[in-house]
Amino acid sequence: MIGKLNHVAIAVPDLAAATALYRDTLGAKVSAPVPQPAHGVTVVFVELPNTKVELLHPMGEKSPIAAFLEKNPAGGIHHICYEVADILAARDKLKATGARVLGDGEPKIGAHDKPVLFLHPKDFVGTLVELEQA
Ligand code: CO
Repeated sequence: MIGKLNHVAIAVPDLAAATALYRDTLGAKVSAPVPQPAHGVTVVFVELPNTKVELLHPMGEKSPIAAFLEKNPAGGIHHICYEVADILAARDKLKATGARVLGDGEPKIGAHDKPVLFLHPKDFVGTLVELEQA
């Protein structure tokens, strides 16, 4: 059911330092910071030959990653995103197995202007999983 790894998202306490780490130390192509107020984050996109890394920094007080950074002050992997061809079909199939979909269970328009859903980490070996309709 899942297809390509779309991205790995890493929450970072210092966006400039994390960007420099990926650009200068690891030699990756990085974007300018992209504010995404609707999602409560500022994102730097790291382009790799086969996928992307997204460096997430909290924006605003209700940022979904603020609590994560409180528990992981040095930063850490926040979620991984897999592509699916049909997000509603994927959701229904997963729910039928007992997996929990976060929020109201309806896809939202994500950071790439495509429908996304998040799956409960306790149902996926401790990893917050994002599904994005490719
Ligand atoms: Co994501």
